[in-house]
Amino acid sequence: MPGRIPRSFIDDILARVDVVEIINARVPLKKKGREYSACCPFHNEKTPSFTVSPTKQFYHCFGCGEHGTAITFLMEYEHLDFVEAIEYIARSLGVEVPREKGRAKSAEEYKKQGGLYELMEEVNRFYQFHLTKHSDAQQYLAERGLSEDIIQRFGLGYVPDAWDNVLKQFAKSFSVKDLMDAGLLIEKDSGGQYDRFRDRIMFPIRDRRGRIVGFGGRVMGDATPKYLNSPETSIFHKGTELYGFYEARQYTRKLERLLVVEGYMDVIALAQFDISYAVATLGTATTQEHVNLIFRAVSEVVFCFDGDRAGQEAAWRALQNALAVLRDGKEIRFLFLPTGEDPDSQVRKIGKEAFEELLVSESVSMTDYLLEHMSEKYNISSREGKSRFMDEMSTMLVSMPDTLIRDQLIADISKLTSIEENILRKRQVNSEQVPKTQGFKRIQNHAVQKTPVRYAISLLLNQPSLVSEAGNPEQIARFDLAGSDFLATLIETIEENPHLNTAAMLERWRGTRYEQSIVQLLRWQPESTDVEILREEFRDCLQRIQYQAHEQQLECLLHKARTEGLDDIEQRDLLMLLRENSKEN
Ligand code: UTP
Ligand code: MN
Repeated sequence: MPGRIPRSFIDDILARVDVVEIINARVPLKKKGREYSACCPFHNEKTPSFTVSPTKQFYHCFGCGEHGTAITFLMEYEHLDFVEAIEYIARSLGVEVPREKGRAKSAEEYKKQGGLYELMEEVNRFYQFHLTKHSDAQQYLAERGLSEDIIQRFGLGYVPDAWDNVLKQFAKSFSVKDLMDAGLLIEKDSGGQYDRFRDRIMFPIRDRRGRIVGFGGRVMGDATPKYLNSPETSIFHKGTELYGFYEARQYTRKLERLLVVEGYMDVIALAQFDISYAVATLGTATTQEHVNLIFRAVSEVVFCFDGDRAGQEAAWRALQNALAVLRDGKEIRFLFLPTGEDPDSQVRKIGKEAFEELLVSESVSMTDYLLEHMSEKYNISSREGKSRFMDEMSTMLVSMPDTLIRDQLIADISKLTSIEENILRKRQVNSEQVPKTQGFKRIQNHAVQKTPVRYAISLLLNQPSLVSEAGNPEQIARFDLAGSDFLATLIETIEENPHLNTAAMLERWRGTRYEQSIVQLLRWQPESTDVEILREEFRDCLQRIQYQAHEQQLECLLHKARTEGLDDIEQRDLLMLLRENSKEN
């Protein structure tokens, strides 16, 4: 097994290869200002929305959202894997790909993970076996209306009532450590372990490739909690898995839309009624990763929630998380069921056809839902209400990528509020947040729809050499502002690797939770290429961040002083902040 390719080598070839050249050889590019453009090779389009930046060594399609570096382009376009793409670029540069000595650690990890998948599969067979032996469990499922067929399709099982079913059965063929790592056991305070799941109907949760990564377990009576789920493990990440996604792809001839529902039983009941394209989040809110995952498979998603308050809240959270990953050509709709019904009960009551009819006739588009919800929340006929409506709306608009959907939304808001569209477009930050420092005014003039933290990140991504102005990243990491942890990480990374270019940074964070934000921030072009001007903006920005962080800390300390009281250290911090505050003003 060859060793790992050193990170520094990847940085190095990304600094030397030209993404414009690589792409142009395959998709002829036209120069357009500082960038190049073409019709996107990854989706059908008539007007070019695929752009390539020679300075950032990065491509991005405004239509379908594809983006990346020379490496990802080769992977996507030539269907190479990561290592093959690197080898290809290295060959074109006439260099050898070096390998780190020794066995790659990740290979060990792979093996370990492989073992966990095997374990989960066997445990599930064990649960399935017990279902055949326990008539009360079979009866429960029959009462819930599940067919033999559907029980098989979703691999349902049962775990009997004992503290050590799994522990006893698997501790020898695997190890207690494996069982712990798989989330199947719970550690006792007094030492030793016991089974997490006891006397429950078991729902295996599969990842996209069909491997079992976790379980949900339901009680048959009224005990609580009703459902118990596997904890996060090295193979199970709730924020990126969707229950039923694998099954939906397996059992739907042509998957065109997905239905997001709340529960395991909803997915299964719908599937039994031949609506095989439902998925559920795993007792968590719908994340951006979920939406991205869905949009890679289909272009239409309907979120289907109960009409009650919990359903409304879940829908609103889903909407807020979806905003940032919206793309043209993708559609999000919402369906609210009558109070007291969930998809399971509803489809059993009205059947497949009527249910699918509801999806079409009763669902509302995302923008309609957004505007309805917001107008219910704020009374926009009063000046006060309108201003608060606009504050929240601005925050949402800022988080949305530049799409036709966003344009349409701005047009709708304009109609609703009688505020002119161009004023809405210019308006980025609400008036309360407008800081007193000079720097921020300048940022605002540049029409950057970003917080100071995001602005600082995008400046650094564009011009890594600004890092010399950055100051102490540890201090920034301690600020409790959205994105400040990433800003700190970015500063540290550039300080350690001063030669990194934008593409190399993107490559570094590919596949992590930061990727999406990086891509979004990279789409912003600084208006000046003059490093001195950028430097000054960056300095202003950091000042502004510091100011925000201080305000926030001050707020916290004052609150605590009023409620619980402060200890000596907090007292001292408060005095210091108050003193600085009077200087800043
Ligand atoms: P529901 O209470 O709506 O469950 O919770 P359900 O799927 O309709 O189940 P039935 O019909 O009562 O059997 C929706 C989802 O929330 C998570 C589960 O993922 C569940 O499917 N949940 C709910 C938990 O994780 N724990 C709980 O205690 C309850
Ligand atoms: Mn239910």
